[in-house]
Amino acid sequence: MAPKWLKKATFYQVYPQSFYDSNGDGIGDIKGVIAKLDYIKNLGISAIWFNPWYESPFRDAGYDIADFYQVAKRYGSNADAKKLFAEAHKRGIKIVLDLVIGHTSIDCKWFKESEKVERNAYSDYYVWSPLAYYRGSGKGDDYFISGWGPRGAFLANYYAVQPALNFGYAKIEHPWELRYDDPRCRATKEEMINVMRFWMDMGADGFRVDMASSVIKRDEGKKKTIAFWREVRKIFDRDYPENVLISEWFDPATSIKAGFHIDFCYNNFWRAGYRPEDPRIKWPQMAMAETDFTDPVPAITPAFELIQKTQKKGYIGFYSGNHDAARLRYYGSEANTIVKLAMLFTLPGTPFLYYGDEIGMRYRENLTPKEGGERRTGSRTPMQWDNHLANAGFSTAKKEALYLPVDDAKNAPCVADALKGKNATYNAVTQLIALRKQHVALDNDAKVELVYLKHRKMPIAYTRSNGKETLLILLNSSKDKVAVTLRKLKSAKALLTCGVSLADGKFTLAPCSYGIFSL
Ligand code: NOJ
Ligand code: CA
Repeated sequence: MAPKWLKKATFYQVYPQSFYDSNGDGIGDIKGVIAKLDYIKNLGISAIWFNPWYESPFRDAGYDIADFYQVAKRYGSNADAKKLFAEAHKRGIKIVLDLVIGHTSIDCKWFKESEKVERNAYSDYYVWSPLAYYRGSGKGDDYFISGWGPRGAFLANYYAVQPALNFGYAKIEHPWELRYDDPRCRATKEEMINVMRFWMDMGADGFRVDMASSVIKRDEGKKKTIAFWREVRKIFDRDYPENVLISEWFDPATSIKAGFHIDFCYNNFWRAGYRPEDPRIKWPQMAMAETDFTDPVPAITPAFELIQKTQKKGYIGFYSGNHDAARLRYYGSEANTIVKLAMLFTLPGTPFLYYGDEIGMRYRENLTPKEGGERRTGSRTPMQWDNHLANAGFSTAKKEALYLPVDDAKNAPCVADALKGKNATYNAVTQLIALRKQHVALDNDAKVELVYLKHRKMPIAYTRSNGKETLLILLNSSKDKVAVTLRKLKSAKALLTCGVSLADGKFTLAPCSYGIFSL
């Protein structure tokens, strides 16, 4: 059984280094998030997902963990974490941490022990090839860093500084590989289960698991990986039944079978189906470009199929953006972005709102890459709290000391203006989240049915229903005025509309408009 609260949950992603700096050192921290919990609550959020906050040399912004049991100094202390759990829970907000299951930093104590020739408890935590020059195939999950030291070459999982944890191989091809059911690999798994228990016993409400499909190597069909996670899910069901297990797998049909409550929709929803040569795609090589979403077919068709396949078993996490993608606002006008958000908050599944997307924060071009962020850096800039304050109220540090530069464009949006009703994106987001909460037809597990999608053009229309009520959603993300007549429709009561009107059974949709009606 999945935790009940997921039925209504809306998530908010906090990138801790960029959210709010409480002590003026230029970098966001846990106390800063505590200070902003009321802001998050007022948005209507039920759970926060934190990017990794553990001790790290930050060569991949914290996805390279040196100590899984310790909050990084720059974010505060474990005591602050505990306080955050308590303060969040007081407000009815859950806290979900990032579990980087597949790898550590080369600075992790486990790795430092493992690289020693003398056998010790950590010797098999990583995969070592005695062939110092060995590189593996260099592809997929078979990529070795050669010439490392006395133990030869090690298997990496992402960047070269992120050695893969050894959960074994589904199929053995070399003498140094261990089978997935080898007791030596079991020890690595036990350690990670211990990590999970450590934080959940302290108060965390679950995990978003980084690269969840990467645990067992050479696992075609992912059978062993599925079994690996099913065992973890059993622990959740038994000992932490209210806690959530979310995967970064991008294959909900598989990951939900593996026991995850939520998996993210394919990477990346807003660009789905576009060819790399499409001029609307700006980051083809990163596979994370999005579009203005005026042709909904490539994203909608597979997403709706996925929803039908997985509904009642788990949830699909649709997201406005994240720390690995360009910001939603990058690909269209403010009005276009709002239509996408209207879709995000009316689809089934669990919506994830990336910090700052609620005010339409922009992707910052050409920033110097920070901590392995590469082009992703432009989506990771400080939250803009109040443009009338220095550093947009993010920090009292000197400008040069900031983690990343604040967007200081004249028209950059900020929370202070949004709270005065001066930000259309914020108005829409808060209204949409409130509406989602009020209507059972918008529950995360309520049905969806496509009622209009033609000509690879806007508009689109779908219904949501739970047996008790049915809502109709119409979206037009294009610059054209469009109209649609829905047969069989007798009457519809407008619940939340922006540029959509109904007369004699015909809906007229202004450029970039959306409407939610009760049938
Ligand atoms: C996915 C994370 O979202 C990304 O930021 C990170 O660089 C890689 N996994 C490696 O952990
Ligand atoms: Ca700080």
